[in-house]
Amino acid sequence: MDFFNENNIVIFDHPLIQHKISILRDKNTGTNEFRKLVGEIAMLQGFVALSDLPLENVEVETPLETCMTPMIAGRKLAIVPILRAGLGMVDGILSLVPTAKVGHIGMYRNEETHEPVEYYCKLPSPIEERTIIVTDPMLATGGSAIDAIGQIKKHGGKSIKFMCIIAAPEGLERLHKAHPDVQIYVGHLDRELNDNAYICPGLGDAGDRIFGTK
Ligand code: PRP
Ligand code: URA
Repeated sequence: MDFFNENNIVIFDHPLIQHKISILRDKNTGTNEFRKLVGEIAMLQGFVALSDLPLENVEVETPLETCMTPMIAGRKLAIVPILRAGLGMVDGILSLVPTAKVGHIGMYRNEETHEPVEYYCKLPSPIEERTIIVTDPMLATGGSAIDAIGQIKKHGGKSIKFMCIIAAPEGLERLHKAHPDVQIYVGHLDRELNDNAYICPGLGDAGDRIFGTK
């Protein structure tokens, strides 16, 4: 399918990311290690996803002379995790940009219809001036990501990136069609959704595995 080669979709093939995702998939990986790996993968993905952060030249005195040298312009980044599982990716990105602001969007999937239900939205202002990176480890049907990004746009968000660890082809296609302007970063593109809209082979329920719930 052509859209996988669109400029706005990056599917990572870095060996470190693939290795860490394989450990996440293992049902014997415990909560502590799972949570740590989700953070590490988010940091590795963030390094690439943030390669277009705006810079400005500032004056710095080295031991030898004064020079103009680039630093990240202003405090322009907002990280917006989709609750709950997206929270697991926040610290990894904050370790790259500690001054980023963090918003939250609460969504859960209705277990029967698989439709997303929104229960919370709080975004840092001025949201329209920020680069926004929406995080959620799982892009399954795409419903949660599509609605979360729709909500951010309603609040004025313009420059939006979406970062997930595993995507199903169905969800990736839906998200790209609904929000073609959004840059999408995917750790691994899996085979398909099953009848319960779970990603296969996937890693199970990301929220439960990060937070140790069932
Ligand atoms: C999971 C996941 C995504 C959503 C993906 O959340 O973290 O938000 O499902 O599914 P979709 O692409 O079909 O919308 P879940 O509803 O399990 O909530 P949780 O993070 O609170 O566990
Ligand atoms: N949400 C998850 O956590 N896992 C899936 O496979 C699908 C939705």
